Amino acid sequence: MKISLKLGLWFFVCILIIETSSMVYLHRHVIHSRTMQELNSLHARGNSHREVLEISSEPSTLHHIALMESKTDTEVVIEDTQGKIILSSGIVDQSIKKIINEPLHDVPRNGRILQSDLHGEKYIATVSPFDAGNENKGYVYMFKSTEQVQTMISQLNQHFIIASVLILFLLLVTIFFLSRALTKPLIVMKEATKKLSKGDFSVSLPHLSKDEIGELSKAIQTLASDLNHLKKERNEFLASVSHELRTPLTYILGYSNMGRRPSLEDQERIHYFNIIHEESQHLSQLIKELFQLARLDQNAFTIKKERINIASYLQVIYERVLPAFKEKQIQLKVDCQMDECFSVDPKRFDQVLLNLLDNALKYSDENTTTLIQAYKMERNIHLIIKDEGIGIQHEDLPYVFDRFYRVEKSRSRATGGFGLGLAIVKELVEAHHGTIFVESKPREGTCFNIVLKEQFDENGFTSG
Ligand SMILES: Nc1ncnc2c1ncn2[C@@H]1O[C@H](COP(=O)(O)OP(=O)(O)OP(=O)(O)O)[C@@H](O)[C@H]1O
Ligand SMILES: [Mg+2]
Repeated sequence: MKISLKLGLWFFVCILIIETSSMVYLHRHVIHSRTMQELNSLHARGNSHREVLEISSEPSTLHHIALMESKTDTEVVIEDTQGKIILSSGIVDQSIKKIINEPLHDVPRNGRILQSDLHGEKYIATVSPFDAGNENKGYVYMFKSTEQVQTMISQLNQHFIIASVLILFLLLVTIFFLSRALTKPLIVMKEATKKLSKGDFSVSLPHLSKDEIGELSKAIQTLASDLNHLKKERNEFLASVSHELRTPLTYILGYSNMGRRPSLEDQERIHYFNIIHEESQHLSQLIKELFQLARLDQNAFTIKKERINIASYLQVIYERVLPAFKEKQIQLKVDCQMDECFSVDPKRFDQVLLNLLDNALKYSDENTTTLIQAYKMERNIHLIIKDEGIGIQHEDLPYVFDRFYRVEKSRSRATGGFGLGLAIVKELVEAHHGTIFVESKPREGTCFNIVLKEQFDENGFTSG
């Protein structure tokens, strides 16, 4: 069922219930007060005849009253205390007789209503007692045909029916337009999400008001542009991957072809094999890093944190990389004054530090110093890898954590980098709920700063 129809139906049913109940209430109230009005006027008329009779009960007065009533839609019957009819303005039929024959008890001076039932009876009736002195006493009965009151009520009913139909019609028209106006943006959004699911991210939704629907539309728009960005990123990534794969493969293919030549000297063949071996290693390293990134992307790895003493952890790392630094004649120093523990996954965090130290080694010249430092500041643990290498230009800094981003493509290619190391580092640091940032000046050096927030673990220990 369409949402506009559903919404419209709900509106219609709710408003119909409200309208019907208020109409029924109003109808009852109006009918009741109109009937009371009729009864009161009948009663007042009887009372005014009584007043006249008490002033003068001459036959001419009686005649005058009868004459007056015969010209109206009401009837008058005057009876003495013995029940004898002194005067009637019309024919006294069975229904009138039935009412006047009922014994009267304690009728107040102001009279009273005798019959107000509109449905079962032919007349509504009132009685007013009169006392003109000298045994000249009796009752003035007033009658009005219920048929006349019913006619008046049916006229009122007609008005009610016309008003109800009119309201219903206006209601339907309003609901039709209202539900369409409400659901139109939803339908537009539905179409947009359909387009998104088909892979078409070029959706543009109209700017809507600042309510929930407007926010939903904005969210869909953001989703579309995010997906578009992701799609572009993925394409660029795939292009970079295939480019990176193609280069070593071209070498391998070329040198293996050359190595197959029968006339080749053994020494030359070994040289070619060495190149093929090197390029294969290069390829396998690339595939290893890509695989790592893919796992990081899918969150298909778990961080198994352990409490580790920072100083001894850094010492182990230092000893691991020292030979490579010594070989390149770069001084490596550790500066860790604290004797504290932090919670990290040692295997993953090794990757972080080794990648950063690998960069320091790759992008520094001999006779420089690389420093591994750890300190605590404002309940955060800072880990610094600082080198005095070639540095990074200011304009390249925001991109060094991007995949396949290399500042100097040719140099990195020669040193075997893919531009994936820092992307992996960033993902791993973020998986530890930490942040990493870089400061660098060309020809002066680069400094990577990892900040791990101190947090309480399940044992109540604080850690980074
Ligand atoms: N310590 C550093 N000094 C100077 N430049 C650096 C440093 N670290 C990174 N860079 C620059 O940032 C780029 C990206 O570094 P990243 O570690 O991601 O890739 P890579 O080292 O080239 O390759 P790999 O994937 O093998 O790590 C490098 O190519 C280099 O240009
Ligand atoms: Mg690197």
